[in-house]
Amino acid sequence: MTTDILIVGKGAAGMATALYLAKLRPEIQIRLMDKSGGLQSATRLAQGGLAAVQLPHDSFEAHVKDTLEAGHYQNRPEAVWEVISRAPEIINDLSNWGVRWDRDESDKLHLGLEGGHSYPRIVHQADHSGKTIHEHLTFELEKHKNINPIAPGLVRDLWIKDSKCIGVIVWREDSSQEICLQARHVILATGGSGAIFPRTTNPPSATGDGLAMGIRAGVKTAGLHWIQFHPTVLLNSGDDRAFLLTEALRGAGAYVVNSSGRRFLFDSLPKGELAPRDLICSAIWNEITLNPGQMVYLDCRHFPKGKLHREFPQVSSLCSQVNLDPEKVPLPILPAAHYQCGGIIADRWGKTSLPGLFAIGEVAHTGLHGSNRLASNSLTEALVYAKNAASYLANQSLTQKQEVLAEQIKQIFSLEIPEDNSPSYPWKDLLFDHFIRKTPPGSALLRDIRLRLQILNLGVNRGIYSSKTLQERNLLQVYLELFNSMQASNHHDLHYQEN
Ligand code: SIN
Repeated sequence: MTTDILIVGKGAAGMATALYLAKLRPEIQIRLMDKSGGLQSATRLAQGGLAAVQLPHDSFEAHVKDTLEAGHYQNRPEAVWEVISRAPEIINDLSNWGVRWDRDESDKLHLGLEGGHSYPRIVHQADHSGKTIHEHLTFELEKHKNINPIAPGLVRDLWIKDSKCIGVIVWREDSSQEICLQARHVILATGGSGAIFPRTTNPPSATGDGLAMGIRAGVKTAGLHWIQFHPTVLLNSGDDRAFLLTEALRGAGAYVVNSSGRRFLFDSLPKGELAPRDLICSAIWNEITLNPGQMVYLDCRHFPKGKLHREFPQVSSLCSQVNLDPEKVPLPILPAAHYQCGGIIADRWGKTSLPGLFAIGEVAHTGLHGSNRLASNSLTEALVYAKNAASYLANQSLTQKQEVLAEQIKQIFSLEIPEDNSPSYPWKDLLFDHFIRKTPPGSALLRDIRLRLQILNLGVNRGIYSSKTLQERNLLQVYLELFNSMQASNHHDLHYQEN
C-alpha cells in the first residue's frame, strides 16, 4: 500500500490531523500508528479542558496577555495570537465531532477557572475532558475509509534519504522485525518526555520518542529545558503513580496549605492559588526546603458537601482508590513533571527543519507556551496546528508519482542488553535534583549516561535491541539534550532557578 501521510501518535494531535486531512482529501491514504494502540496517550489523562474566550467581558487580548505573562514573554507572539483567537473555532470543531461540554442551568457553557487566567474560560467535561475528547476522535476515525490504522509498533528512527524524511523504521516486538514504512510526509505527534523524571503526570509511554529521533536526525529544536511541573500532584507514599489533582480544583476554591493549615502562597504570590503554576511550584518547593519535615496539602474540606464528588468525579475516584476522602482530609501534594514546553521547532503549518517531516502537539515547539505553559492551552494548540498542517498538506500534489522503495523487513535479534549499568535509571533522580534542588550532575554520572547511550546505539547498529532498550535510548538522548539546553541557557530561564 502506498502511504501519502504517515502519522505517528494517537493522541489528540495525531488523530485530529488525520481527521482534518481526511475530510479535505478523501482520496489520499493516511496511516496512523502508535506504540500502545492509543491506550497510553497523555490526551486521555488531561483533566482540565480547552481555554477559550467566551464571556462578554473577556477578550482575546486578555487571554493573550495571560499566556505571555505565564510564559515569561519567551513566547512567539504570532503563535500566541493564532492559537488564542482560534480557540472558539476548535471548541466548535470538537462539538461537531460529538464532544459534549458541561453547561450551566441556562445551557451556557460552564467555564472553569485555572491558574494564570484572568477570567473563567476553560471549556470542559467535568474533570475528564481529555478522555472524552480521545474517545470521540477515536470514534470519528472509524468513519473514514482513507484513514488506515497500523498495528501498534515502536518507531525506532526516521527514515531519511537525500536529506529528506521519506518514512519511518518501525520495531515490532512480537515478530522481532524492523520494518521500513515509506510515506510522502511523516507527522510526529508522539507527545512529551515526562518519563525522564521520577515523578510525572505523564503516562509511562512518554519516553520522548519523537523528540529523540528528531534529535538523532539533526532536526532543529528549541526550549528543551522548559519542562513544566504541575504543583498539585497527589503524594501517595508507596505508590509511584503521580495522580494529578486538576488545577480546576483551585479555580473552584481549593486552598494550598502547609502543615499548620496556613495558605502560605500569599506570602509571595498576590494571586495565591491562582498564580501561574511555575510560581506555585517554586513557592511549594521553598516551603518544603526551608522547613524540613513540612508537608504541603490541597485542602478542599470547605467545599459544599458533595461538590467535589459531583464536579470532579475522576479526582474523587482517584482519591478513593488510595483511601483518602477529600471532604475529610487535606490531600498531600508535591509538584511533578507535567509538560514539555519546548520541542522540535515547527512553523505555522507544522513543518520542521527536515523536509518531509512535520511535528504537532507536545513534541513540537510552536512558540505558544514560552518557558511556562498557561493552563489548558495545549489541547487547543494541538488542534489548531493539526488543522493548519492538514490544510497545507491538502494543497500539496500528493498524487504525483512517487519512487516506491521496497518496504524492507529485517529480522532483529531481540536481546535485552544487561541492565547492570542502570537497574533503576539512577539518572532520573539526578535530573529531579538538577531541576528542583539545583544540584548539577556529577561528571562521573554524566559519563556513565553517555556510555550507556553509546552501548544502546551500538545495539541498534548491530540489530540487537528491544522496545525497552529503544525507549531507554530515547530517554537518555532527550536527557542529554535537556542538560545541554540548560547549560546553554545558563539557567537564566529555568523556572526553579529564576523564582
Ligand atoms: C489540570 O487539569 O490541572 C491540567 C490542565 C493542563 O495541564 O492544562
